[in-house]
Amino acid sequence: MLTTAKIEEIRARIKTWKNKGESVAFVPTMGNLHAGHISLITEGKRRADHVVASIFVNPMQFGPNEDLAGYPRTLEADQQKLVEAGCELLFLPTPEIIYPRGLAAQTFVEVPGISEQLCGATRPGHFRGAATIVCKLFNIVQPDIALFGRKDYQQLQIIRTMVEDLSLPVEVMGVDTVRESSGLALSSRNGYLTAEERAKAPALKRTLDDLAEAIKAGNAVDSAINSAKAALQAAGLTPDYIELRQAQTLAPATDKDKELVLLAAAYLGKARLIDNLVFNR
Ligand code: PAF
Repeated sequence: MLTTAKIEEIRARIKTWKNKGESVAFVPTMGNLHAGHISLITEGKRRADHVVASIFVNPMQFGPNEDLAGYPRTLEADQQKLVEAGCELLFLPTPEIIYPRGLAAQTFVEVPGISEQLCGATRPGHFRGAATIVCKLFNIVQPDIALFGRKDYQQLQIIRTMVEDLSLPVEVMGVDTVRESSGLALSSRNGYLTAEERAKAPALKRTLDDLAEAIKAGNAVDSAINSAKAALQAAGLTPDYIELRQAQTLAPATDKDKELVLLAAAYLGKARLIDNLVFNR
């Protein structure tokens, strides 16, 4: 696997593949790779001739009081996992390469509406940062297909919207969340949990499962959501939000919508956990 910080080297390697008519899958990450990331690489390998990954802890998507400095950085282990999964090219840029004129002077991409709600309400600017870096990485790598985890459901829908709005020539694919046997969705931020908190964390997924059942059974949505928040609190988590939305647009769900998604975020110790559940009514 070639690892490089240089945009020209990435482009040169990809050009040799494209000249031979070979396809490229791309998996952007912030590193600290777990089985969820590796499933993206594996799926990319199934769908394209070559898989390219990036590792970049993107300062633009962290708020001033968030965990940029403490975000786990595990480069050697990450490289090992990427090689084992069959990744052939790793883009590992520095902030200076990505934002040479500094963050304040950087052109940005904003997907309005969908970016300001749910996680965007608690993390202002987060999705602007994520959309901007993904757009920039797409322009550097120019992949045929890009893979993202469904765990970050709002991010996935924002990227799909950006790609459509800007007519970017890339197919965006969501890949199912990988979970521990407890149901807890794998996330780099699970590393912030103490053993005691880890035992409480699966309540997030359990609560979403129970809530979906209650809604499918015809219970009133508002009161079912209130009960779910109470259940989370009783389990030791502090809910940020639990919302029922239309699965594609993330608009508030109406009685007519059939394809739905429950999205939730909750605080537990130093971590802010998110999860979601897509279902049909
Ligand atoms: O999901 C992530 O890890 C990040 O938001 C992404 C897509 C790599 C952009 O920095």
